Amino acid sequence: VSLKNFNTFGIDANARYFAEISHADELTELFADPIWLSMPRLILGGGSNMLMVADFNGLVIRLNIRGIEHRISHNDVFVEAGAGEVWNDLVNYCVDHGYAGMENLSLIPGSVGASPIQNIGAYGVELKDVFESCQAFEIASGSLKTFTKEDCRFGYRESVFKGELAGQYIIVSVKFHLSLVPNFNLKYGAIEQELAARGISEPTLKDVSQVVSHIRVSKLPDPSTIGNAGSFFKNPVITAEEFGPIQQNHPDVVHYPAGDGLVKLAAGWLIEQCGWKGKTVGNTGTWKNQALVLVNHGGATGEEVYGLSSQIIDSVYTKFGVTLHREVNIVK
Ligand code: FAD
Ligand code: EPU
Repeated sequence: VSLKNFNTFGIDANARYFAEISHADELTELFADPIWLSMPRLILGGGSNMLMVADFNGLVIRLNIRGIEHRISHNDVFVEAGAGEVWNDLVNYCVDHGYAGMENLSLIPGSVGASPIQNIGAYGVELKDVFESCQAFEIASGSLKTFTKEDCRFGYRESVFKGELAGQYIIVSVKFHLSLVPNFNLKYGAIEQELAARGISEPTLKDVSQVVSHIRVSKLPDPSTIGNAGSFFKNPVITAEEFGPIQQNHPDVVHYPAGDGLVKLAAGWLIEQCGWKGKTVGNTGTWKNQALVLVNHGGATGEEVYGLSSQIIDSVYTKFGVTLHREVNIVK
């Protein structure tokens, strides 16, 4: 089965077996056959955060579990959505119904089920800020388990599902805790300026969602025309001691406080300083408006993109002594 249309990088890689799951019960049925338990597995949502560097010699399980339900209690809104719902459709549903909390996470590609995996985040909000719990299928036992926010151990682009429980659970639904009373978070990026430019002083959820979407479109390539998986690397978090000499040598280094005396650097800035921004290398390259995004200009192989990412890691290390870590999931 070709996965070309199932990954936003548009990499032409094949999977040996492919199963589409529309209901959690189908996972029980699937794993009743031990052949699937012993085989390499790849869980797939929208394929917007992975790079296929080789054909996948195993079973791809695509989550297509749908459904959105909500419950309102005073000003609290609890929304539960199937793993296969499109993340941005859920955001739009909430914005349209006046359920506040997700508006800054507008237009992030991918599925609801993947949202806890790396604790998606943008414009000053992370998934964990609206997460209540999720239901996950434990592959080894065939049972469903509920994970609370604490269980998930969310961090910056991290969760228990990427860490110690990697490969053990399939998220089937996620429950969110939203509010009927907006608590706008407009400080990040150009949100306030963009609202002001539109003459909006008392924004609605829809205004914020539209402004965030507008800013994103201006910076990020649209995967339907240019293959990519968003930020290829995480923004590196370093200690104050490591930061001192970097700031001395590069006074304009873009950085943010990251708590506990740690400093977060803008990986896009580091990569741009190394001369990579907008550069094309074969069929791949970095995006002209955002050096942190690696792109497929057409016909790139996963190995080619991976090779470029290794070159970028080397040159950022040589110039700044900082190691970039890939954010995108590498599938071999
Ligand atoms: P996939 O790519 O299909 O899978 C990602 C990982 O999660 C894989 O390891 C997969 O095995 C695992 N997985 C998927 N579904 C499940 C499940 N149900 N159960 C268990 N494991 C599962 N991310 C951000 O955080 N912030 C952004 O602002 C952002 N912007 C982006 C912009 C662009 C243009 C693109 C292309 C990507 C961007 N991303 C961003 C990355 C991506 O949108 C998110 O990581 C998203 O959550 C991936 O969802 P998906 O369904 O496509 O996951
Ligand atoms: N910058 C440059 N050159 C570049 C790119 C960025 O100098 O080519 C500098 C600029 O100073 C800019 C700063 O870096 O102000 C930050 O850039 P941006 O606002 O675009 O955000 P980011 O740190 O590059 C992160 C997330 C994005 C998320 C945005 C908005 C990570 C790895 N990436 O990017 O998430 O949408 O913030 O909140 O944390 C993703 O994960 O795929 C993703 C797109």
